[in-house]
Amino acid sequence: NWTMNDFIDLQIQHIRETVGDKKVLLGLSGGVDSSVVGVLLHKAIGSQLTSIFVDHGLLRKNEAQQVMDSLVGKFGLNIIKVDAQERFLSKLEGVTDPEKKRKIIGNEFIQVFNDEARKLDGIDFLAQGTLYTDVVESGTDTAQTIKSHHNVGGLPKDMKFKLIEPLNKLFKDEAREIGEKLGMPESLVWRQPFPGPGLGIRVLGEVTPDKLRIVRDSDFILRDEIAKAGLQRKVWQYFTVLPGFKSVGVMGDGRTYDYTVAIRAVNSVDGMTADFARLPWEILQKISTRIVNEVDGVNRIVYDVTSKPPSTIEWE
Ligand code: XMP
Repeated sequence: NWTMNDFIDLQIQHIRETVGDKKVLLGLSGGVDSSVVGVLLHKAIGSQLTSIFVDHGLLRKNEAQQVMDSLVGKFGLNIIKVDAQERFLSKLEGVTDPEKKRKIIGNEFIQVFNDEARKLDGIDFLAQGTLYTDVVESGTDTAQTIKSHHNVGGLPKDMKFKLIEPLNKLFKDEAREIGEKLGMPESLVWRQPFPGPGLGIRVLGEVTPDKLRIVRDSDFILRDEIAKAGLQRKVWQYFTVLPGFKSVGVMGDGRTYDYTVAIRAVNSVDGMTADFARLPWEILQKISTRIVNEVDGVNRIVYDVTSKPPSTIEWE
């Protein structure tokens, strides 16, 4: 489609004119938007771009590695990967309130990013994957006060960057189209929505390494089976949740007392409302069997059959 090709050419030209011989910094989240900006900027200004990717330890299984393999390996971006798992986990210790967890993760994210940014010299510009909808939502939307999303914001006051937001006139599907035109892999471009606080809000209550393991490994199995069934692009968002209670089960001739994992799968257009996805029973059965067999400490699987409203998509 010629308009998207035009958009790319125009943006590249515009970025080159704006940036000149200066340096640009980008915060990569692993999501579609910032990745597309990364590839676009790299195409425009090459090594004048430095990216920072904070691994907060709340990402999905293999996610950090996949982002690095693709963006560094295939596209040649210069990415500073910060392994900050310990830092986030210790900040989250003992914290159970969802909004407090969000704030801690959001603040910590900004701090880790800023700590890294401070080490770099001579950066004039900060690039962001802001979309048109982010701009609108951050201004007015009430969802903001219902759950504190933190996609836009948090620049350190003492660091004076000029902003570059090449996607801020685009909608999500247009950003995806740009990504495809730039030759980015389907796994990056068609990634389902993933919240900034990541698995941190899918372990309900206190986040511990063991609970993270359960939610991460069960989520991996869910995604694997959905992919095998060819349903990746047919279900808008799907993940597992660890409510954190234990119940009685039986395995072999023994009684078990283990965790329950919940499966959440929804269809939606923009996340504001959602319908629970009618996943086929056979697929649910496979997922259920695999999670119980392969993830230690789980003996029961439940399927969330509520829509939004009255529920939200995430459980926290
Ligand atoms: P809810 O749970 O509010 O989710 O129905 C709607 C959409 O927003 C995502 N979500 C978040 N995204 N930071 C984000 O970046 C957050 O704190 C957050 N909370 C929810 C959720 O995954 C769904 O796609």
